[in-house]
Amino acid sequence: MMKEITIGQAQRLTAPAPFGLLSTRREDGSTNLMAISWWTYLTNHPPMIGVALSKKGLSGSRIEATGEFGLSVVGEELKEAALRCGACSGRTVDKAAQFGIPLEAAAQVAPEVVSGSRVVFECRLAGQAEAGDHVLYLGEVVALRGDESVRQLFAYDGYARLDTV
Ligand SMILES: Cc1cc2nc3c(=O)[nH]c(=O)nc-3n(C[C@H](O)[C@H](O)[C@H](O)COP(=O)(O)O)c2cc1C
Repeated sequence: MMKEITIGQAQRLTAPAPFGLLSTRREDGSTNLMAISWWTYLTNHPPMIGVALSKKGLSGSRIEATGEFGLSVVGEELKEAALRCGACSGRTVDKAAQFGIPLEAAAQVAPEVVSGSRVVFECRLAGQAEAGDHVLYLGEVVALRGDESVRQLFAYDGYARLDTV
């Protein structure tokens, strides 16, 4: 029988959520990685995705400053390292270097992307909308690569756990 629930409980009930590492270019030119589960497809023509980012973190301000971002849907070998990208800020930590996450140049955008991913989206900022304490950034996909042999990680239990399905 259904009962009233909170938005947090709804998110747990609808897990697993798709997961990725969002990359942006830091001021010093290096790449910042942020754990993200609130991303979604928006349209196919042109291909666009949306990412909802808290106003508190570094990544949203870097998207606004540079007009671009990458989204790497990473594989199971990054289960622990990718989770750590959700527990600290690129303001103080070079996450890729510190957590040993391999990066490579993107084809069309400045921030690097995660090597060996299942899918990598390269996006140009096409618009944004305020949504409470988050901002929804709309990204037009300008390059797209994938490898179906990589097992995708999903988010379970809010920010607590990543796993394959
Ligand atoms: C599994 C997981 C999913 C997350 N999803 C989001 C998300 O969709 N939006 C968001 O703003 N933060 C999300 N976070 C939290 C950010 O990754 C975290 O606030 C991070 O420290 C921000 O990094 P930055 O300051 O380098 O941008 C998630 C964290 C985890 C562990």
